Amino acid sequence: MRIESRARFSLAQLPTPIEKLKSLSRELGGPGLMIKRDDQTGLALGGNKTRKLEFLVGQALEQGADTLVTAGAAQSNHCRQTAAAAARAGLRCELVLNGTKPELPNGNLLLDELLGARIHWAQRSEREGKLSEISDELRKQGSKPYVIPVGGSNGVGATGYVLAMMELAEQLKGMYRRVDHLIFASSSGGTQAGIVVGAKVIGFKGKLHGVSIDKDDSDGATYECELADIANETAKYVGFNAQFTAKDFNVLYDYLGGGYGVVSDLERAAIRLLASREGIMLDPVYTGRAMGALLDLIRKKAFRSDETVLFWHTGGAPALFAYAKDLI
Ligand SMILES: Cc1ncc(COP(=O)(O)O)c(C=O)c1O
Repeated sequence: MRIESRARFSLAQLPTPIEKLKSLSRELGGPGLMIKRDDQTGLALGGNKTRKLEFLVGQALEQGADTLVTAGAAQSNHCRQTAAAAARAGLRCELVLNGTKPELPNGNLLLDELLGARIHWAQRSEREGKLSEISDELRKQGSKPYVIPVGGSNGVGATGYVLAMMELAEQLKGMYRRVDHLIFASSSGGTQAGIVVGAKVIGFKGKLHGVSIDKDDSDGATYECELADIANETAKYVGFNAQFTAKDFNVLYDYLGGGYGVVSDLERAAIRLLASREGIMLDPVYTGRAMGALLDLIRKKAFRSDETVLFWHTGGAPALFAYAKDLI
């Protein structure tokens, strides 16, 4: 593997902690529950994008870029972390956000502004066009933009989660612990693709469960095919000789509720439970839904009580404030 020789810009405080959710495990009557705190990666309130951005910004700097350009939802954690990464690396940041400018920015959007990003608003269907338009304009002005795909989900970004699995393996070895199931939110795919590649690299024996946040399975295995493409790109980037197909990805599609960013009782209950029993803040869009899925699976006895399940907290709590109305 040539992961060590790939350009990387240090942004994260690693390793992120692994904690036991003792009260919750006891209350639910097992399985053993652990949480990997990637909400504490340290970059402008943390989250899974920090790990991806280490490699994306590394490549941007290697290519001599002076501006990061990316897109996402108005409450995108990815955009907030990209704005922070740009600030740290001395780069400019242009964000294309879905929708229209609200009167008062809140949550991630407030942070985007404080971090100094330039924000452009566009309807989702016009997003790709807007990204190209901004990049072309920057080039005309003599700038060197580096365009990051939505969620930072390509082979370069997902490399961060190959390393994250190597980090996890080291931590579990030090704790003399085995994990039977790993569960996490999955949306643009870089996290799951990186975890699956990393699992193969370290010979992880447990089961991996990606909880779909916004993709449905009405088109057959479309999302799994996308995941396989990112995984193959990642394996190539890190010099790991393996081929991935849609069959390598386990995606749970039962928790989509009303769609992306629509908060229901599933997320509300999960957020309150983790907050009130463990003092851990989940987010309304991703980790609230993924934890809701885990709690449902536990209630349905999908795991044996002597098994250990690790929930990978991927961040997002800054969005809580923007979703206040849906949470109380
Ligand atoms: C908090 C949080 N968790 C999970 C995810 C999903 O990660 P990925 O887009 O790599 O699938 C995101 C993506 O935006 C996120 O912001």
